[in-house]
Amino acid sequence: MVCMKRWWKEAVVYQIYPRSFKDSNGDGIGDLQGIIEKLDYLKKLGIGVVWLSPVYQSPNDDNGYDISDYRAIMKEFGTEKDFEELLQGMHQRGIKLVMDLVVNHTSDEHKWFIESRSSKDNQFRDYYIWRNGKDGNPPNNWGSFFSGSAWKYDKATDQYYFHLFSTKQPDLNWENKKVRSEVYDMMKFWFDKGIDGFRMDVINLISKVPGLPDGEKGENDLYGNGFPFTANGPRIHEFLQEMNREVLSKYDIMTVGEAPGVDPKTAELYVNSDRNELNMIFQFELMDIDSGEHGKWDIKPWKLTTFKEIMFKWYDTLKGKGWNSLFLNNHDQPRMVSRFGNDKEYRVESAKLLATFLHTWQGTPYIYQGEEIGMTNVHFNDISEYKDIESINMYKEMSALGVPKETLMKGIYAKGRDNARTPIQWNSSENAGFTDGKPWINVNPNYKEINVERALADKSSVFYYYQKLIQLRKQYEVIVYGDINMLYKDDESIFAYTRNLNNERLLVILNFFDSKVEFNLPEDIEYKATELLISNYQVEEHDLHSIRLRPYEARVYLLK
Ligand code: NOJ
Repeated sequence: MVCMKRWWKEAVVYQIYPRSFKDSNGDGIGDLQGIIEKLDYLKKLGIGVVWLSPVYQSPNDDNGYDISDYRAIMKEFGTEKDFEELLQGMHQRGIKLVMDLVVNHTSDEHKWFIESRSSKDNQFRDYYIWRNGKDGNPPNNWGSFFSGSAWKYDKATDQYYFHLFSTKQPDLNWENKKVRSEVYDMMKFWFDKGIDGFRMDVINLISKVPGLPDGEKGENDLYGNGFPFTANGPRIHEFLQEMNREVLSKYDIMTVGEAPGVDPKTAELYVNSDRNELNMIFQFELMDIDSGEHGKWDIKPWKLTTFKEIMFKWYDTLKGKGWNSLFLNNHDQPRMVSRFGNDKEYRVESAKLLATFLHTWQGTPYIYQGEEIGMTNVHFNDISEYKDIESINMYKEMSALGVPKETLMKGIYAKGRDNARTPIQWNSSENAGFTDGKPWINVNPNYKEINVERALADKSSVFYYYQKLIQLRKQYEVIVYGDINMLYKDDESIFAYTRNLNNERLLVILNFFDSKVEFNLPEDIEYKATELLISNYQVEEHDLHSIRLRPYEARVYLLK
Protein backbone atom coordinates (compact mmCIF):
# COMPACT_ATOMS: atom_id res chain seq x y z
CA MET A 1 0.00 0.00 0.00
CA VAL A 2 1.11 3.57 -0.54
CA CYS A 3 2.71 5.48 2.23
CA MET A 4 0.16 7.95 3.52
CA LYS A 5 1.24 11.39 4.63
CA ARG A 6 0.53 12.09 8.29
CA TRP A 7 1.42 14.96 10.63
CA TRP A 8 3.00 12.62 13.16
CA LYS A 9 5.36 11.27 10.50
CA GLU A 10 6.53 14.77 9.68
CA ALA A 11 6.92 15.93 13.28
CA VAL A 12 9.87 15.80 15.63
CA VAL A 13 8.92 14.77 19.17
CA TYR A 14 10.62 16.09 22.30
CA GLN A 15 10.30 14.05 25.48
CA ILE A 16 9.98 15.86 28.80
CA TYR A 17 10.64 14.03 32.05
CA PRO A 18 8.94 16.66 34.19
CA ARG A 19 10.62 15.86 37.47
CA SER A 20 14.00 16.82 36.00
CA PHE A 21 13.06 19.53 33.51
CA LYS A 22 12.61 22.83 35.39
CA ASP A 23 11.54 23.64 38.92
CA SER A 24 9.56 26.87 39.29
CA ASN A 25 8.79 26.90 43.03
CA GLY A 26 12.03 25.91 44.72
CA ASP A 27 10.96 22.51 46.04
CA GLY A 28 13.70 20.81 44.04
CA ILE A 29 11.23 19.00 41.77
CA GLY A 30 10.51 20.03 38.19
CA ASP A 31 6.92 21.11 37.57
CA LEU A 32 4.37 22.28 35.00
CA GLN A 33 5.05 25.99 35.54
CA GLY A 34 8.71 25.17 34.91
CA ILE A 35 7.78 23.69 31.55
CA ILE A 36 5.61 26.70 30.75
CA GLU A 37 8.63 28.96 31.39
CA LYS A 38 10.56 27.02 28.76
CA LEU A 39 7.99 26.77 25.98
CA ASP A 40 9.69 29.47 23.96
CA TYR A 41 12.92 27.51 24.20
CA LEU A 42 11.15 24.47 22.72
CA LYS A 43 9.60 26.62 20.05
CA LYS A 44 13.03 27.97 19.16
CA LEU A 45 14.31 24.42 18.81
CA GLY A 46 11.48 23.84 16.36
CA ILE A 47 9.94 20.60 17.66
CA GLY A 48 6.30 19.89 16.83
CA VAL A 49 5.24 17.53 19.60
CA VAL A 50 6.01 17.11 23.29
CA TRP A 51 5.73 13.69 24.89
CA LEU A 52 5.24 14.37 28.57
CA SER A 53 6.19 11.55 30.94
CA PRO A 54 3.49 10.98 33.59
CA VAL A 55 2.18 14.02 35.45
CA TYR A 56 -0.67 12.26 37.24
CA GLN A 57 -1.15 11.83 40.97
CA SER A 58 1.41 9.31 42.21
CA PRO A 59 3.28 8.29 45.35
CA ASN A 60 6.39 8.25 43.12
CA ASP A 61 7.72 4.82 43.82
CA ASP A 62 8.71 4.82 40.14
CA ASN A 63 8.60 8.58 39.51
CA GLY A 64 5.04 8.81 38.27
CA TYR A 65 4.88 5.46 36.46
CA ASP A 66 2.87 4.33 39.49
CA ILE A 67 -0.38 6.25 39.17
CA SER A 68 -2.83 6.61 42.03
CA ASP A 69 -5.30 8.88 40.19
CA TYR A 70 -5.41 8.97 36.40
CA ARG A 71 -7.46 12.15 36.27
CA ALA A 72 -5.55 14.31 38.75
CA ILE A 73 -2.27 16.18 38.37
CA MET A 74 0.55 15.26 40.75
CA LYS A 75 0.67 17.82 43.56
CA GLU A 76 4.44 18.37 43.21
CA PHE A 77 3.90 19.21 39.53
CA GLY A 78 1.06 21.70 39.94
CA THR A 79 -2.66 21.92 39.45
CA GLU A 80 -5.24 21.21 36.82
CA LYS A 81 -5.16 24.91 36.01
CA ASP A 82 -1.43 24.72 35.36
CA PHE A 83 -2.09 21.80 33.07
CA GLU A 84 -4.68 23.77 31.08
CA GLU A 85 -2.24 26.66 30.82
CA LEU A 86 0.50 24.33 29.61
CA LEU A 87 -1.68 22.72 26.97
CA GLN A 88 -2.87 26.08 25.76
CA GLY A 89 0.67 27.48 25.74
CA MET A 90 1.82 24.58 23.61
CA HIS A 91 -1.05 24.81 21.17
CA GLN A 92 -0.54 28.56 20.81
CA ARG A 93 3.02 27.82 19.74
CA GLY A 94 2.01 25.09 17.33
CA ILE A 95 3.27 22.31 19.60
CA LYS A 96 1.14 19.22 20.17
CA LEU A 97 0.97 17.39 23.48
CA VAL A 98 1.27 13.63 23.84
CA MET A 99 0.67 12.27 27.33
CA ASP A 100 1.90 9.04 28.89
CA LEU A 101 -0.63 6.25 29.28
CA VAL A 102 0.39 3.84 32.01
CA VAL A 103 -2.25 1.13 32.12
CA ASN A 104 -0.37 -2.13 32.49
CA HIS A 105 -0.46 -1.31 36.20
CA THR A 106 -1.57 1.32 38.69
CA SER A 107 -0.09 2.36 41.99
CA ASP A 108 -1.03 0.22 45.00
CA GLU A 109 -2.41 3.51 46.33
CA HIS A 110 -4.97 3.77 43.53
CA LYS A 111 -8.51 3.52 44.89
CA TRP A 112 -9.18 0.46 42.74
CA PHE A 113 -6.34 -1.41 44.37
CA ILE A 114 -7.20 -0.25 47.88
CA GLU A 115 -10.68 -1.67 47.30
CA SER A 116 -9.36 -4.74 45.52
CA ARG A 117 -7.06 -5.80 48.33
CA SER A 118 -9.71 -5.24 51.02
CA SER A 119 -11.60 -8.51 50.46
CA LYS A 120 -11.98 -11.35 48.01
CA ASP A 121 -15.53 -10.42 47.17
CA ASN A 122 -14.95 -6.71 46.70
CA GLN A 123 -16.29 -5.48 43.35
CA PHE A 124 -12.76 -4.33 42.39
CA ARG A 125 -11.08 -7.62 43.34
CA ASP A 126 -10.87 -8.77 39.75
CA TYR A 127 -9.37 -5.48 38.55
CA TYR A 128 -6.00 -6.97 39.47
CA ILE A 129 -4.35 -10.39 39.27
CA TRP A 130 -4.71 -12.34 42.52
CA ARG A 131 -3.70 -15.97 43.04
CA ASN A 132 -3.19 -18.44 45.84
CA GLY A 133 0.37 -19.30 46.83
CA LYS A 134 1.84 -22.73 46.30
CA ASP A 135 3.00 -24.38 49.52
CA GLY A 136 3.99 -21.10 51.05
CA ASN A 137 5.64 -19.89 47.81
CA PRO A 138 4.41 -17.40 45.23
CA PRO A 139 1.95 -18.69 42.58
CA ASN A 140 4.72 -19.05 39.98
CA ASN A 141 8.48 -18.52 39.63
CA TRP A 142 8.49 -15.27 37.63
CA GLY A 143 10.81 -12.44 38.59
CA SER A 144 9.91 -8.77 38.47
CA PHE A 145 11.73 -6.27 36.22
CA PHE A 146 12.74 -4.46 39.38
CA SER A 147 14.29 -7.50 41.14
CA GLY A 148 12.60 -9.97 43.48
CA SER A 149 9.53 -12.07 42.74
CA ALA A 150 6.72 -10.75 40.53
CA TRP A 151 4.28 -11.63 43.31
CA LYS A 152 3.60 -10.02 46.63
CA TYR A 153 1.83 -11.73 49.46
CA ASP A 154 -1.06 -9.76 50.95
CA LYS A 155 -2.03 -10.81 54.43
CA ALA A 156 -5.54 -9.35 54.41
CA THR A 157 -6.88 -12.00 52.03
CA ASP A 158 -4.06 -14.55 52.21
CA GLN A 159 -3.36 -14.29 48.46
CA TYR A 160 -0.62 -12.90 46.24
CA TYR A 161 -0.99 -10.08 43.73
CA PHE A 162 0.99 -9.83 40.51
CA HIS A 163 3.38 -6.97 39.71
CA LEU A 164 5.72 -6.94 36.72
CA PHE A 165 7.42 -3.85 38.09
CA SER A 166 7.73 -2.71 41.74
CA THR A 167 5.60 -4.12 44.57
CA LYS A 168 3.81 -0.76 44.48
CA GLN A 169 2.82 -1.26 40.83
CA PRO A 170 0.20 -4.04 40.78
CA ASP A 171 -0.73 -5.17 37.24
CA LEU A 172 -4.24 -4.50 36.05
CA ASN A 173 -6.27 -7.46 34.88
CA TRP A 174 -7.06 -6.67 31.24
CA GLU A 175 -9.16 -9.83 30.95
CA ASN A 176 -11.76 -7.89 32.94
CA LYS A 177 -13.98 -5.90 30.60
CA LYS A 178 -14.68 -3.32 33.29
CA VAL A 179 -10.98 -2.52 33.56
CA ARG A 180 -10.82 -1.94 29.85
CA SER A 181 -13.81 0.36 29.77
CA GLU A 182 -12.46 2.34 32.75
CA VAL A 183 -9.23 2.84 30.80
CA TYR A 184 -11.07 3.89 27.64
CA ASP A 185 -13.19 6.40 29.59
CA MET A 186 -10.07 7.86 31.13
CA MET A 187 -8.42 8.18 27.72
CA LYS A 188 -11.47 10.03 26.40
CA PHE A 189 -11.32 12.33 29.41
CA TRP A 190 -7.84 13.47 28.32
CA PHE A 191 -8.64 13.61 24.61
CA ASP A 192 -11.66 15.73 25.37
CA LYS A 193 -9.36 18.16 27.14
CA GLY A 194 -7.55 18.49 23.81
CA ILE A 195 -4.40 16.42 24.10
CA ASP A 196 -2.94 15.09 20.87
CA GLY A 197 -1.95 11.54 21.63
CA PHE A 198 -0.58 8.94 23.99
CA ARG A 199 2.73 7.22 24.46
CA MET A 200 1.66 3.87 25.89
CA ASP A 201 3.81 2.42 28.64
CA VAL A 202 4.78 -1.27 28.12
CA ILE A 203 1.57 -1.67 26.19
CA ASN A 204 2.54 -5.03 24.69
CA LEU A 205 2.61 -6.57 28.18
CA ILE A 206 -1.07 -6.11 29.07
CA SER A 207 -2.32 -9.53 27.92
CA LYS A 208 -0.92 -12.40 29.97
CA VAL A 209 -0.99 -16.07 29.01
CA PRO A 210 -3.80 -17.67 31.05
CA GLY A 211 -2.61 -20.12 33.64
CA LEU A 212 0.52 -18.03 34.21
CA PRO A 213 2.83 -21.05 33.91
CA ASP A 214 6.32 -21.17 35.43
CA GLY A 215 9.05 -19.71 33.23
CA GLU A 216 12.39 -21.14 32.23
CA LYS A 217 14.99 -20.82 34.95
CA GLY A 218 18.71 -21.28 34.42
CA GLU A 219 20.95 -22.82 37.05
CA ASN A 220 22.22 -19.44 38.24
CA ASP A 221 18.95 -17.56 37.89
CA LEU A 222 17.05 -16.43 40.96
CA TYR A 223 13.72 -16.40 39.13
CA GLY A 224 12.03 -17.95 36.14
CA ASN A 225 11.49 -15.96 32.96
CA GLY A 226 7.88 -14.82 32.72
CA PHE A 227 8.53 -12.57 29.73
CA PRO A 228 7.35 -15.04 27.06
CA PHE A 229 4.02 -15.26 28.93
CA THR A 230 3.50 -11.54 29.28
CA ALA A 231 4.93 -9.96 26.11
CA ASN A 232 2.70 -9.95 23.01
CA GLY A 233 0.17 -12.13 24.82
CA PRO A 234 -2.78 -13.96 23.29
CA ARG A 235 -5.33 -11.11 23.44
CA ILE A 236 -3.04 -8.12 22.87
CA HIS A 237 -4.22 -7.31 19.36
CA GLU A 238 -7.86 -7.81 20.28
CA PHE A 239 -7.41 -5.32 23.15
CA LEU A 240 -5.63 -2.74 21.01
CA GLN A 241 -8.18 -3.01 18.23
CA GLU A 242 -10.93 -2.57 20.76
CA MET A 243 -9.16 0.48 22.18
CA ASN A 244 -8.76 1.84 18.69
CA ARG A 245 -12.40 1.31 17.85
CA GLU A 246 -13.72 2.71 21.12
CA VAL A 247 -11.35 5.65 21.52
CA LEU A 248 -8.41 6.29 19.20
CA SER A 249 -10.29 6.25 15.91
CA LYS A 250 -12.52 9.06 17.12
CA TYR A 251 -9.72 11.66 17.32
CA ASP A 252 -6.95 13.07 15.13
CA ILE A 253 -4.16 11.98 17.42
CA MET A 254 -0.92 10.00 17.45
CA THR A 255 -0.01 6.89 19.38
CA VAL A 256 3.30 5.28 20.12
CA GLY A 257 3.49 2.09 22.10
CA GLU A 258 6.45 1.10 24.20
CA ALA A 259 7.04 -2.49 23.16
CA PRO A 260 9.93 -4.45 24.62
CA GLY A 261 10.54 -7.86 23.09
CA VAL A 262 9.07 -7.08 19.68
CA ASP A 263 10.82 -7.92 16.43
CA PRO A 264 9.99 -6.21 13.14
CA LYS A 265 7.62 -8.96 12.00
CA THR A 266 5.65 -8.76 15.24
CA ALA A 267 5.84 -4.98 15.08
CA GLU A 268 3.92 -5.08 11.85
CA LEU A 269 0.95 -6.48 13.75
CA TYR A 270 0.94 -3.42 15.98
CA VAL A 271 1.60 -0.69 13.45
CA ASN A 272 0.36 -1.86 10.07
CA SER A 273 -2.02 0.95 9.22
CA ASP A 274 -4.59 -1.55 7.90
CA ARG A 275 -4.90 -3.18 11.32
CA ASN A 276 -6.09 -0.14 13.26
CA GLU A 277 -3.97 -0.51 16.35
CA LEU A 278 -1.10 1.94 16.92
CA ASN A 279 0.80 4.43 14.77
CA MET A 280 4.28 3.53 15.96
CA ILE A 281 6.05 1.49 18.57
CA PHE A 282 9.35 1.97 20.35
CA GLN A 283 11.52 -1.02 19.52
CA PHE A 284 14.24 -2.25 21.89
CA GLU A 285 16.33 -4.38 19.62
CA LEU A 286 18.70 -1.47 19.16
CA MET A 287 18.71 -0.63 22.88
CA ASP A 288 19.78 -4.24 23.58
CA ILE A 289 22.73 -4.06 21.21
CA ASP A 290 25.22 -3.76 24.08
CA SER A 291 23.51 -6.21 26.47
CA GLY A 292 25.11 -9.59 27.09
CA GLU A 293 23.32 -12.87 27.69
CA HIS A 294 22.50 -11.90 31.28
CA GLY A 295 20.57 -8.81 30.30
CA LYS A 296 21.00 -5.07 30.52
CA TRP A 297 23.62 -4.92 33.29
CA ASP A 298 25.81 -7.42 31.47
CA ILE A 299 27.55 -5.00 29.12
CA LYS A 300 29.14 -6.07 25.88
CA PRO A 301 30.72 -3.99 23.11
CA TRP A 302 28.49 -3.18 20.14
CA LYS A 303 29.34 -3.22 16.46
CA LEU A 304 28.29 -0.73 13.82
CA THR A 305 27.41 -3.51 11.37
CA THR A 306 24.89 -4.88 13.89
CA PHE A 307 23.53 -1.39 14.48
CA LYS A 308 23.01 -0.90 10.73
CA GLU A 309 21.54 -4.35 10.29
CA ILE A 310 18.94 -3.73 13.02
CA MET A 311 17.97 -0.33 11.65
CA PHE A 312 17.69 -1.56 8.11
CA LYS A 313 15.70 -4.64 9.05
CA TRP A 314 13.12 -2.49 10.85
CA TYR A 315 12.94 -0.06 7.97
CA ASP A 316 12.67 -2.78 5.36
CA THR A 317 10.05 -4.88 7.15
CA LEU A 318 7.75 -1.99 7.92
CA LYS A 319 8.30 -0.18 4.63
CA GLY A 320 5.02 0.97 3.12
CA LYS A 321 3.03 -0.77 5.88
CA GLY A 322 3.85 0.83 9.20
CA TRP A 323 5.99 3.62 10.56
CA ASN A 324 9.16 3.59 12.67
CA SER A 325 10.00 5.68 15.71
CA LEU A 326 13.62 6.73 16.06
CA PHE A 327 15.34 7.23 19.39
CA LEU A 328 18.72 6.61 20.94
CA ASN A 329 17.85 7.52 24.51
CA ASN A 330 14.96 8.31 26.84
CA HIS A 331 14.28 8.44 30.59
CA ASP A 332 15.09 4.71 30.91
CA GLN A 333 18.27 4.65 28.86
CA PRO A 334 21.74 6.10 29.29
CA ARG A 335 22.61 9.31 27.47
CA MET A 336 23.24 8.56 23.80
CA VAL A 337 26.42 10.58 23.45
CA SER A 338 28.00 8.58 26.29
CA ARG A 339 26.75 5.26 24.97
CA PHE A 340 27.11 5.50 21.20
CA GLY A 341 29.37 8.52 20.84
CA ASN A 342 32.35 9.90 22.70
CA ASP A 343 31.39 12.13 25.63
CA LYS A 344 34.94 13.39 26.15
CA GLU A 345 37.16 14.60 23.31
CA TYR A 346 34.44 14.45 20.64
CA ARG A 347 31.32 15.17 22.64
CA VAL A 348 30.05 17.90 20.35
CA GLU A 349 31.02 16.16 17.10
CA SER A 350 29.58 12.80 18.13
CA ALA A 351 26.36 14.30 19.54
CA LYS A 352 25.85 15.97 16.15
CA LEU A 353 26.74 12.80 14.29
CA LEU A 354 24.16 10.73 16.18
CA ALA A 355 21.57 13.45 15.67
CA THR A 356 22.26 13.42 11.94
CA PHE A 357 21.53 9.72 11.83
CA LEU A 358 18.31 10.04 13.88
CA HIS A 359 16.97 12.90 11.81
CA THR A 360 17.80 11.54 8.37
CA TRP A 361 16.67 7.93 8.78
CA GLN A 362 13.06 7.11 7.93
CA GLY A 363 10.72 7.42 10.92
CA THR A 364 9.67 9.96 13.52
CA PRO A 365 12.65 11.23 15.57
CA TYR A 366 12.30 11.54 19.35
CA ILE A 367 14.63 13.89 21.22
CA TYR A 368 15.04 13.26 24.93
CA GLN A 369 15.40 16.42 27.04
CA GLY A 370 19.01 17.56 27.27
CA GLU A 371 20.02 15.58 24.20
CA GLU A 372 19.83 18.80 22.21
CA ILE A 373 22.73 20.24 24.21
CA GLY A 374 24.69 16.98 24.32
CA MET A 375 24.13 16.10 27.99
CA THR A 376 26.14 13.11 29.22
CA ASN A 377 25.93 10.22 31.67
CA VAL A 378 26.70 10.90 35.32
CA HIS A 379 29.13 9.09 37.65
CA PHE A 380 27.99 9.57 41.24
CA ASN A 381 30.47 8.11 43.70
CA ASP A 382 28.08 6.26 45.89
CA ILE A 383 24.87 4.31 45.46
CA SER A 384 23.24 6.63 48.05
CA GLU A 385 23.22 9.38 45.41
CA TYR A 386 21.11 7.25 43.07
CA LYS A 387 17.31 7.53 43.18
CA ASP A 388 16.05 5.02 40.65
CA ILE A 389 14.23 2.03 42.10
CA GLU A 390 15.55 -0.28 39.39
CA SER A 391 19.22 0.49 40.15
CA ILE A 392 18.72 0.51 43.91
CA ASN A 393 16.89 -2.83 43.99
CA MET A 394 19.41 -4.44 41.65
CA TYR A 395 22.28 -3.16 43.80
CA LYS A 396 20.68 -4.53 47.00
CA GLU A 397 19.84 -7.90 45.50
CA MET A 398 23.25 -8.40 43.90
CA SER A 399 25.31 -7.10 46.86
CA ALA A 400 23.50 -9.58 49.08
CA LEU A 401 24.72 -12.29 46.72
CA GLY A 402 28.28 -11.07 47.12
CA VAL A 403 28.76 -9.28 43.77
CA PRO A 404 31.48 -6.61 44.34
CA LYS A 405 30.44 -2.98 44.58
CA GLU A 406 32.77 -2.02 41.69
CA THR A 407 31.06 -4.44 39.33
CA LEU A 408 27.63 -3.15 40.29
CA MET A 409 28.61 0.50 39.97
CA LYS A 410 30.13 -0.21 36.58
CA GLY A 411 26.75 -1.48 35.41
CA ILE A 412 24.94 1.53 36.87
CA TYR A 413 27.40 3.96 35.29
CA ALA A 414 26.81 2.43 31.90
CA LYS A 415 23.11 1.61 32.02
CA GLY A 416 21.45 3.13 35.11
CA ARG A 417 18.32 5.15 34.37
CA ASP A 418 19.47 8.06 36.53
CA ASN A 419 21.98 8.89 33.80
CA ALA A 420 19.05 10.40 31.94
CA ARG A 421 17.30 11.80 34.98
CA THR A 422 19.77 14.34 36.31
CA PRO A 423 18.27 17.83 36.00
CA ILE A 424 18.44 19.76 32.76
CA GLN A 425 21.44 22.04 32.84
CA TRP A 426 20.02 25.46 32.10
CA ASN A 427 23.01 27.62 33.05
CA SER A 428 26.18 27.68 35.10
CA SER A 429 24.65 28.98 38.32
CA GLU A 430 24.16 26.75 41.35
CA ASN A 431 22.24 23.55 40.59
CA ALA A 432 22.55 24.38 36.91
CA GLY A 433 19.64 26.83 37.18
CA PHE A 434 17.24 23.91 37.54
CA THR A 435 16.01 24.90 40.98
CA ASP A 436 16.52 27.47 43.74
CA GLY A 437 16.12 24.68 46.27
CA LYS A 438 17.81 21.33 46.72
CA PRO A 439 17.31 19.18 43.63
CA TRP A 440 15.63 15.81 44.17
CA ILE A 441 18.63 14.24 42.43
CA ASN A 442 22.06 15.83 42.15
CA VAL A 443 22.95 17.68 38.99
CA ASN A 444 25.69 16.37 36.74
CA PRO A 445 28.90 18.16 37.86
CA ASN A 446 29.71 19.04 34.24
CA TYR A 447 26.92 21.66 34.12
CA LYS A 448 29.30 24.63 33.98
CA GLU A 449 30.59 23.40 30.65
CA ILE A 450 27.39 21.86 29.27
CA ASN A 451 24.30 24.00 29.66
CA VAL A 452 21.54 25.63 27.65
CA GLU A 453 22.73 29.18 28.16
CA ARG A 454 26.14 28.37 26.70
CA ALA A 455 24.60 26.39 23.86
CA LEU A 456 22.34 29.29 22.93
CA ALA A 457 25.27 31.70 22.90
CA ASP A 458 27.34 29.56 20.54
CA LYS A 459 26.21 29.34 16.93
CA SER A 460 28.17 26.12 16.44
CA SER A 461 26.57 24.34 19.40
CA VAL A 462 24.73 21.03 19.39
CA PHE A 463 21.51 23.00 19.98
CA TYR A 464 21.72 24.92 16.70
CA TYR A 465 22.64 21.75 14.85
CA TYR A 466 19.40 20.15 16.07
CA GLN A 467 17.51 23.28 15.16
CA LYS A 468 18.86 23.03 11.63
CA LEU A 469 18.08 19.32 11.31
CA ILE A 470 14.51 19.99 12.39
CA GLN A 471 14.17 22.83 9.94
CA LEU A 472 15.55 20.68 7.10
CA ARG A 473 12.90 18.06 7.85
CA LYS A 474 10.25 20.71 7.29
CA GLN A 475 11.87 21.81 4.07
CA TYR A 476 12.66 18.50 2.33
CA GLU A 477 10.01 15.82 2.05
CA VAL A 478 12.66 13.29 1.13
CA ILE A 479 13.91 13.40 4.74
CA VAL A 480 10.51 12.26 5.96
CA TYR A 481 9.24 9.96 3.27
CA GLY A 482 12.23 9.02 1.10
CA ASP A 483 13.19 5.37 0.60
CA ILE A 484 16.51 4.23 1.98
CA ASN A 485 19.28 2.68 -0.02
CA MET A 486 22.17 1.45 2.14
CA LEU A 487 25.79 1.94 1.10
CA TYR A 488 28.80 0.49 2.88
CA LYS A 489 26.72 -2.24 4.54
CA ASP A 490 29.68 -4.20 5.85
CA ASP A 491 31.82 -1.29 6.97
CA GLU A 492 32.55 -1.07 10.71
CA SER A 493 33.12 2.70 10.73
CA ILE A 494 31.01 4.30 8.05
CA PHE A 495 27.23 4.42 8.01
CA ALA A 496 26.08 5.82 4.67
CA TYR A 497 22.85 5.78 2.72
CA THR A 498 20.89 7.60 0.11
CA ARG A 499 17.25 8.63 0.43
CA ASN A 500 15.04 8.98 -2.61
CA LEU A 501 11.66 10.55 -3.18
CA ASN A 502 10.45 11.58 -6.60
CA ASN A 503 13.08 14.03 -7.79
CA GLU A 504 14.73 14.61 -4.44
CA ARG A 505 17.85 12.65 -3.52
CA LEU A 506 19.80 12.81 -0.32
CA LEU A 507 23.20 11.36 0.53
CA VAL A 508 24.06 10.84 4.20
CA ILE A 509 27.66 10.06 5.19
CA LEU A 510 28.46 9.28 8.81
CA ASN A 511 31.77 8.27 10.36
CA PHE A 512 30.66 6.65 13.61
CA PHE A 513 34.07 6.52 15.33
CA ASP A 514 37.13 8.59 16.14
CA SER A 515 39.42 7.28 13.42
CA LYS A 516 39.90 8.99 10.07
CA VAL A 517 38.44 6.95 7.26
CA GLU A 518 38.06 7.25 3.54
CA PHE A 519 34.66 7.46 1.88
CA ASN A 520 34.26 6.85 -1.85
CA LEU A 521 30.85 7.23 -3.40
CA PRO A 522 30.05 4.14 -5.49
CA GLU A 523 30.47 4.91 -9.20
CA ASP A 524 26.92 3.91 -10.08
CA ILE A 525 25.49 6.80 -8.08
CA GLU A 526 25.41 9.61 -10.58
CA TYR A 527 24.83 13.28 -10.00
CA LYS A 528 25.41 16.57 -11.73
CA ALA A 529 25.75 18.80 -8.72
CA THR A 530 25.70 18.64 -4.96
CA GLU A 531 24.49 20.87 -2.20
CA LEU A 532 25.73 20.35 1.34
CA LEU A 533 22.67 20.64 3.60
CA ILE A 534 24.37 20.15 6.95
CA SER A 535 27.68 18.96 8.38
CA ASN A 536 29.39 18.92 11.75
CA TYR A 537 32.76 20.16 10.45
CA GLN A 538 33.77 22.90 8.04
CA VAL A 539 33.87 21.34 4.61
CA GLU A 540 36.08 22.75 1.85
CA GLU A 541 36.22 19.88 -0.62
CA HIS A 542 33.18 18.23 -2.08
CA ASP A 543 34.61 15.46 -4.21
CA LEU A 544 32.27 12.68 -3.16
CA HIS A 545 34.43 10.05 -4.79
CA SER A 546 37.17 10.64 -2.28
CA ILE A 547 36.47 12.11 1.14
CA ARG A 548 38.75 11.78 4.11
CA LEU A 549 36.28 11.71 6.97
CA ARG A 550 37.35 13.20 10.25
CA PRO A 551 36.43 11.69 13.67
CA TYR A 552 32.63 11.46 13.96
CA GLU A 553 32.18 13.49 10.80
CA ALA A 554 28.65 13.75 9.43
CA ARG A 555 27.57 15.24 6.11
CA VAL A 556 24.24 15.39 4.36
CA TYR A 557 24.17 16.28 0.68
CA LEU A 558 21.40 16.89 -1.74
CA LEU A 559 22.32 15.21 -5.02
CA LYS A 560 21.11 16.89 -8.15
C1 NOJ B 1 8.46 1.75 31.19
C2 NOJ B 1 8.75 3.14 31.63
O1 NOJ B 1 9.36 3.83 30.59
C3 NOJ B 1 9.61 3.03 32.86
O2 NOJ B 1 10.15 4.25 33.26
C4 NOJ B 1 8.78 2.42 33.95
O3 NOJ B 1 9.59 2.16 35.08
C5 NOJ B 1 8.15 1.10 33.51
N1 NOJ B 1 7.64 1.13 32.18
C6 NOJ B 1 7.00 0.77 34.42
O4 NOJ B 1 5.95 1.67 34.22
